[in-house]
Amino acid sequence: MTYDISQDSISDSLNTKLIGNYVVYLDSVESTMDIAADLAMQGAAEGTIVIAEEQIKGRGRFDRTWMSPSGKNLYMSLILYPDMRYLHQISMMCAVSIVDTLSSILAEESSISIKWPNDVRVSGKKIAGILVENRILESSEQISIIGIGLNINFDTTEIAEISEIATSISGELGYQIGRLEVINSLCSNLERLYFGIQSGESIKVRWENMLDTIGKRIKLSSGEDIIEGLASSVDEEGNLLLILKNGESLSVNAGEVTSQM
Ligand code: BTN
Repeated sequence: MTYDISQDSISDSLNTKLIGNYVVYLDSVESTMDIAADLAMQGAAEGTIVIAEEQIKGRGRFDRTWMSPSGKNLYMSLILYPDMRYLHQISMMCAVSIVDTLSSILAEESSISIKWPNDVRVSGKKIAGILVENRILESSEQISIIGIGLNINFDTTEIAEISEIATSISGELGYQIGRLEVINSLCSNLERLYFGIQSGESIKVRWENMLDTIGKRIKLSSGEDIIEGLASSVDEEGNLLLILKNGESLSVNAGEVTSQM
């Protein structure tokens, strides 16, 4: 079985109307985020996806490096022009789409969850990350570049620094799978949920139910600060509500949960 992908095979495999209506497939890039942002600035159609075989400077949240070895995983940036009213639901929508995709591929008993705000995990190990970069044009139009990195046929056990904290679809299944199947499922799920949001549905409750952070005592690093508290709930915007040791509550809109118990 071949696991190669190409511009044509991606386009042919998709059965979506919007997501992936235009596919840019590249061999090696610094980051698909920059290619997608340039295309959006030039007026690319909403739904355009940029997929690369490898990234030399793949980036994650907090300017971290996103490991992007060639030919193994999915590195995709999606261009959307969402209405400001539901902008906060975009990253929730992506995380839920990835969970839905994994649920259709992995064994039923797999424990798939989201660590707030949008790390997708299997049995507590990160399998996918989402990076949303928003810009507002002079015309007031909102551009969202949504980066998704999903480990597919990546043997994370070979890399000491991530072997304990990361996994991949092949790591969970015990065998490799075709990336087209994953791309097709992910784009269909993104489209279904995006159309739902556009027609006024909220994704927040589904996203909240997938979070493994709620109810846990957590440490959260936010800028220079480390905040400790009980993660009690999330609000409609996706902010995390913490109950601090002194009983006060705090709403956090960004940061990294470094421990949860
Ligand atoms: C994170 O969890 O820190 C987010 C990781 C996002 C990685 C993806 S891979 C495709 C796109 N291009 C990048 O450089 N980053 C995102």
